[in-house]
Amino acid sequence: MIKQKEYEKRRKHLMDIAGSGSVIIVRAASQKIRNRDAAYPYRQDSDFLYLSGFSEPEAMIVLLPEADGGEAILFCRERDAHREMWDGLRAGTEGAVEQYGFDEAFPISEVGERLPELLHGRQKIYHDLGKDPEFDQVLIGWMNEFRAKTRKKFLAPDEIIALDHSLHEMRLFKSRTEITAMRKSARVAEAAHKRAMQVCKPGMSEAEIHAELLHVFTSNQCEASYVPIVGGGANACVLHYISNRDTLNDGDLLLIDAGAEYDGYASDITRTFPVNGKFSGPQKDLYEVVLAAQLKAIDEVRAGNPWDHVHETAVRVATEGMIDLGILKTSLEEALEEEHFKDYYVHNTGHWLGLDVHDVGEYEIDGHSRVLEPGMVLTVEPGIYIPETATSVDKLWRGMGIRIEDDVAVTRAEADILTSGICKTMDEIEALMAS
Ligand code: GLY
Ligand code: MN
Ligand code: MN
Repeated sequence: MIKQKEYEKRRKHLMDIAGSGSVIIVRAASQKIRNRDAAYPYRQDSDFLYLSGFSEPEAMIVLLPEADGGEAILFCRERDAHREMWDGLRAGTEGAVEQYGFDEAFPISEVGERLPELLHGRQKIYHDLGKDPEFDQVLIGWMNEFRAKTRKKFLAPDEIIALDHSLHEMRLFKSRTEITAMRKSARVAEAAHKRAMQVCKPGMSEAEIHAELLHVFTSNQCEASYVPIVGGGANACVLHYISNRDTLNDGDLLLIDAGAEYDGYASDITRTFPVNGKFSGPQKDLYEVVLAAQLKAIDEVRAGNPWDHVHETAVRVATEGMIDLGILKTSLEEALEEEHFKDYYVHNTGHWLGLDVHDVGEYEIDGHSRVLEPGMVLTVEPGIYIPETATSVDKLWRGMGIRIEDDVAVTRAEADILTSGICKTMDEIEALMAS
């Protein structure tokens, strides 16, 4: 678990960046209704979670930087025996201070009257503008009200600055404890993929495999970090396939993209394996290409390398492989220059990973691909998808979709593959499925 001290350190760091004379406001995610009065399971906003570890709705963090450190305030729901009987325990304002290390806490019902006071003497407001336009309007209303009341205009805030640049830059670099949480999340996802490989048989439903994944997540104090993709046969070519209801056919491949979330941190793993436990000849040929692309791309995950080298390497190896197999019928230069590979290699090779599965952080700086640095975590996930409608490709390949995805941490030395515990060579997969 991430400790209270680390959350305090993060808040202090952010206050140092913002500087005295500013105020930082971060709001909890709102509760989302599924239908009528049934709510979706609550998931805290990742920025909010990063700064507090506090996972209740109806809350607001207010940070007041000072030259000597500053003050961290939490507005949250009060204890309420009646509501707690329905919805479960609340930390309350006392818990916010004792368990979450805030300097002060107030009931969220008082935010309208207290926040304008807290803005006094602060010129800049750091806030996640645009996420909730209604709240932005409320904030601007408070600013105007306050400016109307004070005669010393310089004491009233006159600027709202997007918070994400500084906060998301912090989130991009994972601490040791964050990497530990991500490793735990990876272990659980590996166990889920292993179970799926072990139980899979022709005639089963994608839904049964989906249920096996959730069983492993839930019984390990995790939840799914996104809705798992369980796509048999040509369903693997539907990139965001989540209906997971078809029958798994003998002779088809099954693509599973599933990750766990532990203590807020996501893993994100894809494996593709034969439903009957044995790769066919054409399946082997295409799998070999994707695996080679992935291994070469992972070799590029090194401090000092630009992020786009990882993608370019995967694309080059995959394109060479598709030409060798006769799937692409041009020269390598032409396939790359004219981007013919995009017919079957349709997505980027990875993304940052952290509290969000597609985590925050810039990919480019001043128009150039960002250079990898220790502490960054990214996925490496090349994929080749040949739609059933691709009549220019031999029938052997049509309706085949293969992706292999691992989570990789950049270190001072070689890449640290957080998800190396789940097999990915064809021999290993066949051996596991036969066991
Ligand atoms: N599971 C989402 C992704 O791989 O990007
Ligand atoms: Mn991914
Ligand atoms: Mn994925």
